[in-house]
Amino acid sequence: MNINKKPLFNEFGDTEISKKRIINGNTTNLNDFNNMKYTWVSNWYRQGMNNFWIPEEINLSQDLKDYNDKLTEEERIAYDKILSFLIFLDSIQTANLSNINNYITASEINLCLTIQAFQEAVHSQSYSYMLDTICSPEKRNEILYQWKDDEILLKRNKFIGDLYNNFINNPNTENLLKTIMANYILEGIYFYSGFMFFYNLERNKKMPGSAQVIRYINRDENTHLWLFRNIIKELQTENPEIFTETIKRELVEMMKEGVKNEIEWGHYVIGDKIQGINKELINSYIKYLGNIRMKAIGFDYIYEGYNENPAKWVDILADANSVKTDFFEARSTAYAKAAALIDDL
Ligand SMILES: [Fe+2]
Ligand SMILES: [Fe+2]
Repeated sequence: MNINKKPLFNEFGDTEISKKRIINGNTTNLNDFNNMKYTWVSNWYRQGMNNFWIPEEINLSQDLKDYNDKLTEEERIAYDKILSFLIFLDSIQTANLSNINNYITASEINLCLTIQAFQEAVHSQSYSYMLDTICSPEKRNEILYQWKDDEILLKRNKFIGDLYNNFINNPNTENLLKTIMANYILEGIYFYSGFMFFYNLERNKKMPGSAQVIRYINRDENTHLWLFRNIIKELQTENPEIFTETIKRELVEMMKEGVKNEIEWGHYVIGDKIQGINKELINSYIKYLGNIRMKAIGFDYIYEGYNENPAKWVDILADANSVKTDFFEARSTAYAKAAALIDDL
């Protein structure tokens, strides 16, 4: 099925809410906050705005000491590699979201994707702040581009990059759906062994500032996951014809591939070398995430026996409002008030 690029100035666009469509609609591009078809956007928007944070307000002085004195060699290598991967993910997200947005014809969803792109830019910048604080300029550059030389890292990034490129080069509904699914997998699976690693360091009384940066990023990523889950669900309602048995099988295969990649990656960078995490935990945690992500978009579980979270401590440490660093406690509650609206994904 063809897909039409969103018109920009369109004086003959539809103004009736009922005519609004996620794709192939006739949009005016007017941001009307009082007349939304997709009413969940109100909550999403509020959450997105409340989540605002500034990387430099997080104190990394302890991390500077810990990186040099407290981290084991294995932890330092894992820290560098995981950062290199996360930097790539947030950078490509910042660059790619506008490509998706060009084909989404519902103005309130365009608005969400724009806010998401802003947040991905902040995430990219937060890694620079971490590297500038913790590493030498040479080390910083080496980590930023490690993904170009590390074969396993490059393979991972290629899988995502190729899917995104495929849509740009060949925009049709099938490729859009795959790109949206790739986003969903990226937001819901790819970040997670990395997040787990940082929270585990914090559990072991190391790198508290880095964990705090990750916590804020994680909170934003949750809303991105929420956004893409809802886009998929709205498409299922509006365009059920896209979800053929063939494409549904492909989406399942994509998730399986994403989970497999994330586990392989976690085994490669973390493995059994870091106190508090091991290969089996990575395997069961990522498969558990794969299951709940599929369930959230109306699919069956894909891994039998992985329906319980084997790492509940990750969820506790990921909660930006329950874990407070000394620095965080000293701040007003402005950052914390976002909790009430968080969608349970
Ligand atoms: Fe991000
Ligand atoms: Fe994101």
